[in-house]
Amino acid sequence: MKTFIVAILLLGTHLFGASQVVHLDKKYKNSKKCRACHMHIVREWRESWHAKSHYKNDEFFKRSVDFTAKKKRMSKNRVKVMCAKCHNPRLEVTNIGEDYDIIASVGLDKGGKVDKALQSDTIKEGINCLVCHNIDKIHENAPQTVRGMDRVEWTKNGWMTGPLGDARSPYHKTQHRDFFDKDPNKLCFVCHAYSHSIDGKLTIASLQKEYKGNQKCVECHMGPKHKGVAATLPIENAQPKPRMVRTHKFFGGHKKEMLKDALKLKLAKARNKLKVTLKNPQPHNIPTGCASRSLLIEAKFYKGTKLLDTKMVELTQKFKRKRGRASIPHTAIEASQNLSIPAKGSKTFLIPLVEGSNNVEVNIYYRLVNDEVRNLLKLKESRWSERFFITSGRVNL
Ligand code: HEC
Ligand code: HEC
Ligand code: HEC
Ligand code: HEC
Ligand code: HEC
Repeated sequence: MKTFIVAILLLGTHLFGASQVVHLDKKYKNSKKCRACHMHIVREWRESWHAKSHYKNDEFFKRSVDFTAKKKRMSKNRVKVMCAKCHNPRLEVTNIGEDYDIIASVGLDKGGKVDKALQSDTIKEGINCLVCHNIDKIHENAPQTVRGMDRVEWTKNGWMTGPLGDARSPYHKTQHRDFFDKDPNKLCFVCHAYSHSIDGKLTIASLQKEYKGNQKCVECHMGPKHKGVAATLPIENAQPKPRMVRTHKFFGGHKKEMLKDALKLKLAKARNKLKVTLKNPQPHNIPTGCASRSLLIEAKFYKGTKLLDTKMVELTQKFKRKRGRASIPHTAIEASQNLSIPAKGSKTFLIPLVEGSNNVEVNIYYRLVNDEVRNLLKLKESRWSERFFITSGRVNL
């Protein structure tokens, strides 16, 4: 019996522990190779934050990697490889041990296998076409900690998986997979399900667990199906074949349009307090994910038309590393209560009234990075502090 269990455990680690690498041939290296026939999709995808998920293209991600390396005394390359599971899943090095840090600390890793893989052209685009459309199988029964590249198997070079059942291309082979049309949430959950701190001890995101219902992510994040083409190559009566398609922009928290009206607001007076109720009709929490997002409640108290005072409340989750120091989620050992508005649920907050006021205007905003983490990482780009308007309301007191 004992040997049986050991055998299963070994099999388990073999299946889910380390991912297999498929080296991408020049012909299918990156999105440039798809432009001749899928230019419209390449353009849309370039606008998405999937296209920014590489170290060099996202200031917030870059600084988070640097911060983690510094505070955890690890080499930057080792952190990059760990984050690559989801941010750069075509990386050709899948795991490096602690011994790598010793080599790196004396500069002996330069030009080595890890360094080369991290510089490679095939990963510079982050989550590109050759990530999603080269997924052959998803290991749905793998433990929840196994994500990104470790959760999938890649197709051979030149095989594109997708939603169409009858696609024919002269450039590549095509194969239909259910996780592009019937059940596309499976594809998104490869990475957007669960995240933990770098030492594995603290859960920092759990989108799959918080998800209510089975609405498809793509309906909101790729928009409704509309008439278009999958490829511009003339393949039917000397014309491109008409198809029902979605856009590849994957709009989310970085896009103002997504935030507008994402929450519903209700205001009421309760004795000497203002009662602010935020209702979330979306199937996941707002904010969601592992990125220290925040919601802002701005309450402007008036007497008639005269502004008496403005109160600001930041709803966010804060993280601590050792000795109670402020932290980003990835280096944290402890988290405060999560103040995000639950999926298809609501939360109520009380704000003391300003004396003498007889009406109040409330504005709800969303911010990509909360004050604490923005300062900690010294983020420079203005997008991280910009306020995205969600909704507003007014009530007499
Ligand atoms: C994050 C995953 C993801 C990435 C990255 C991605 N796609 Fe897709 N793609 C999808 C999904 C999901 C669908 C199915 C959309 C639907 O319901 O029609 C799709 C559909 C397609 C289709 C079929 C036409 C359609 O819209 O249904 C083509 C062709 C395609 N993608 C090409 C590309 C190319 C080229 C790139 C890179 C520029 C790319 N995709 C990047 C997920 C992705
Ligand atoms: C020479 C033209 C050409 C090039 C280059 C090309 N494709 Fe295609 N691709 C097509 C055609 C044609 C179809 C079928 C369209 C249809 O049936 O409506 C197609 C279909 C697809 C599909 C849908 C498959 C399915 O079964 O749903 C995906 C995904 C796809 N291509 C990805 C890519 C990617 C990624 C690249 C770049 C590495 C690429 N293609 C390069 C012509 C091309
Ligand atoms: C291989 C892992 C992976 C897969 C598969 C994946 N994503 Fe992502 N996604 C990411 C990462 C990593 C980011 C963050 C990139 C960044 O901000 O630099 C992201 C960002 C996003 C965002 C945020 C954009 C914003 O503006 O904040 C949305 C929305 C999104 N993905 C939707 C989807 C949907 C829908 C699917 C399924 C069709 C999907 N993703 C599949 C890894 C993935
Ligand atoms: C009914 C529409 C809807 C559906 C379905 C939906 N989302 Fe969203 N999602 C939104 C809205 C609205 C936002 C913007 C608010 C926000 O950023 O929190 C958003 C934001 C996001 C973000 C950025 C979050 C952040 O705060 O950085 C990610 C990532 C994301 N969604 C992933 C997903 C995934 C994965 C699924 C499917 C499992 C999904 N969404 C299903 C509406 C939807
Ligand atoms: C299990 C998959 C996974 C791993 C591993 C992972 N991430 Fe992410 N990361 C995501 C997803 C999915 C998103 C987008 C959803 C969101 O906003 O939280 C994201 C978003 C981010 C963002 C927000 C970027 C932006 O533009 O707003 C930062 C910063 C980030 N990750 C840092 C890291 C760091 C640093 C590591 C490694 C220590 C890491 N991540 C490892 C899945 C992962």
